This record gives sequence, C-alpha cells and structure tokens, in this order.
Amino acid sequence: MAIVKLNTVYINRFIEKEEIHAFQDFVEVVHDRIHERTGAGSEYLGWLDWPSKMSEAELERIEATAESIRNTMDVLIVVGIGGSYLGAKAIKKLLRPSFGLDQIQIIYAGQNLSSRYMEDLLSYIKGKNVAVNVISKSGTTTEPAIAFRTIRKWMYDTYGEQAAERIFVTTDESEGALRKATDKNSYTSFEIPRDIGGRYSVLTAVGLLPLAVAGVNIRELLRGAVQAEKELANPSLEENDAYLYAAYRQILNLRGYSMEILASYEPAMSDFHEWWKQLFGESEGKQGKGIFPASVVYSTDLHSLGQFIQDGRRSLFETMVSFAEDEYESTIAFDEENDDGLNYLADKTLHEVNMEALKASALAHMEGGVPVISLEVERMDDFHTGYLIYFFMKACAMSAYLSGVNPFDQPGVELYKQNMFELLGKPGYEQKEKPIK
Ligand code: PA5
Repeated sequence: MAIVKLNTVYINRFIEKEEIHAFQDFVEVVHDRIHERTGAGSEYLGWLDWPSKMSEAELERIEATAESIRNTMDVLIVVGIGGSYLGAKAIKKLLRPSFGLDQIQIIYAGQNLSSRYMEDLLSYIKGKNVAVNVISKSGTTTEPAIAFRTIRKWMYDTYGEQAAERIFVTTDESEGALRKATDKNSYTSFEIPRDIGGRYSVLTAVGLLPLAVAGVNIRELLRGAVQAEKELANPSLEENDAYLYAAYRQILNLRGYSMEILASYEPAMSDFHEWWKQLFGESEGKQGKGIFPASVVYSTDLHSLGQFIQDGRRSLFETMVSFAEDEYESTIAFDEENDDGLNYLADKTLHEVNMEALKASALAHMEGGVPVISLEVERMDDFHTGYLIYFFMKACAMSAYLSGVNPFDQPGVELYKQNMFELLGKPGYEQKEKPIK
C-alpha cells in the first residue's frame, strides 16, 4: 500500500476522471514553477528539500539538547504562535499517549493574551522543574513576546542566573529582538532557516526540538518526510496523490464548493487539524480567494455537526483521513447477559467498527451531496506522520499556485499586527487615524 493513498471511491460520482486528466498540463506548469523556484514567494521554498538536506550535526545537537531537557525537567513551556507551535503540538498529540503517561509535560504559551491563562500557567508551574523553548522567526510577534517576558521574569525570580540554562531559543540566525536577547544572555539557540516560513517549518528545529523532548522519534519523522520528498517530486497526477488531492480541491473550488472539512476518526488528530487549517487557510485565503478550512473529529462530531454536513447548506466538501492499520487491537468483549444487545459485535476490534463508521458516514454524506476525498494513511507512527506532513505541505503549495495565489505570504495577518501596534502606541507605529472607541 502507498504510504498516503487518495481513494477516489467517494468522489468519482462528483468528478469524472477526464476532468482530472484535463488538469495534468496545468499541474505540470505549476510543478516546474515549484521545483525551478520561479513562482511567487519562491524565496520561501526552503522546505522543499529540507528533509534530505538537514545537517546531521544540527540533528544531533537537537537530540542532545532534547535529551538533557527530557531527563532533568518536569515541564517544557513552548512559547510561540501560528507556525511556530502548531506543528509540534499536532505531532505530539498524534504520536504520544492520550492520558498523561509522558515523562515530561509540554505546555504552550504565547498564543493568546488571556490574563487568566497566564496566571493559571504560573500557578501550575510553581514548584516544578521548568524549561522554556521560545520560538519566533521574526522575534517580534506581540503575543509570544509578552508571554516570554512574563515567563522569563518568573524563571529569573525562581532560578536566579541559572535561568539562562533553562531557556532555549529558536529564531532567525541574526535578526530580531529574540536573537539580540539570545546573544546577550548566551541562551542555547537554534536557527529557523530564512527560506522556510512558519507554517512550513515543523520539520526544522521549530518542531523537532519540542517533539524530541516529548519523546517523538524525530529521525523517523524526517525519514518519512525524505521519502515523501522523493515520491512527491513526480509531476504525474496518476502517481502523485498530493497533486491529485490539490487538483480535486481546485476543481471543487471552481464548482463553488467553498469550504473543506478535514474529518478524522481519531481524537489524537484534533491538533493535527489545527496545523492543517493554518497551512491551507494562511496559504490560500487571499485576494478574495481560498477554500475555508474547517475540521471535525468523528464519531464525536457526527453527533453535533453531522446534521449540518449531511443536510445543511451545500457548499462544503469533506476530506477524510484514516489509518489503515491499528496496533492496539482493542476488542469488544462477548457478554453472557447481552443486555445491551451488542454481542453481534463481539470479538470485533474497535478499529474495525471505527472503519465501518467511516464508510457509513462517507456514504451518507455522499448521498447528501457532499463530495468526499478519502486519504488513507498506512499507519499512525513517526515515519508515516513525517510523510503526511510533507504530503500536505506539497499539496498546499500546488493547490495555492493552481488557484493563482502566493502560498508563502500572509499579508492579512500583518494588517492586524500593524493595527495592534498602532492602538497600543508602539514607537514608530503612531496612529494615522483615531481608533474606533
Ligand atoms: O506561518 C506563519 O508564517 C505564521 O503563522 C507565523 O508562524 C506566526 O505569525 C508567528 O510568527 P513568528 O514566528 O515570527 O513569531
């Protein structure tokens, strides 16, 4: 089986094979633009060959640092926002145990401006052995900068000068406020390559350091991504399912399907959905274009949003992600009494029942007029996750270029940042107009 396979069984009714074939020439043009680095934003294509290019020395340094944090700390606080933390959170949740069985706890800060969240966090870490990994490419994003200032003060108040040994910085090699603070205080630091944007950066130190601390096998993760890098460099829609996925999305988009719901049957995928939403939302949603990315976890959401998806306004399509193999073999027991009438399921695995739930909902949604793209991943492990991450990044670049936008900028996000600087009176950003009271 392919590592990530697009199964067309639930989409064939909506899109004919000929329509897909008609896209091949267009896909080849975009493929050349990506690989020859001639498209808009091509200065941010560093992620394309990063998995095979990443240096062994850098990997070893990340592993060694992670090992020492893992063995000596109770908690690692990851401070970052958007592409600077979503990937690590996504993969950690997917690959580590669901219920607090980890050697070290990873908690997150810098994604909100909630005083309650910050005060709860400071109360929680009291008396614990704490390290911080602050991650910001620009080094100037307000939310993580404020969180880092607050947590750093707590660290120095608590550990004195030794706090510096517990602070790990991931940022640009030479620019930004965070780089300055790092050099001044001799914090251990890792670089975010200049040619890799936030939402494409999870396979750099941005994601790898916290993931290695969490106990993820980052070598396997990268090995999966290297395999994807090789296999998904093929321009043929027959052989490259990342491009096939991008082509289906854009054909649906042209037909007026303006919302895509990523659906998983695995609660551990919920943070992965958030990473995926940022990747596609920030890459494609510009110039009045884009497919709005939403997500659901089934069966949970079959009992909340299921009604709307089945029968509500018809402007959405679904992409279902499933894992073919299951290592857990949790089975449903036979019960002599059979009061609940479930003996017809006795000895089936939960995974088998879950996969039937997938088929049942895919068929139902298809009947309800929802095109369903099915992405089947062989297994849920480090290697396959690395492959899946690269798969979506490659699909996203193709899809955004097919729709005529630059996949690598985010001008809309910048505007709110500028407004906030003006409203808060940051020097150099004096207000041009009076803000609305
Ligand atoms: O994908 C992106 O580029 C953004 O989501 C950034 O990651 C996010 O805005 C955080 O930026 P920075 O890492 O500069 O603090």
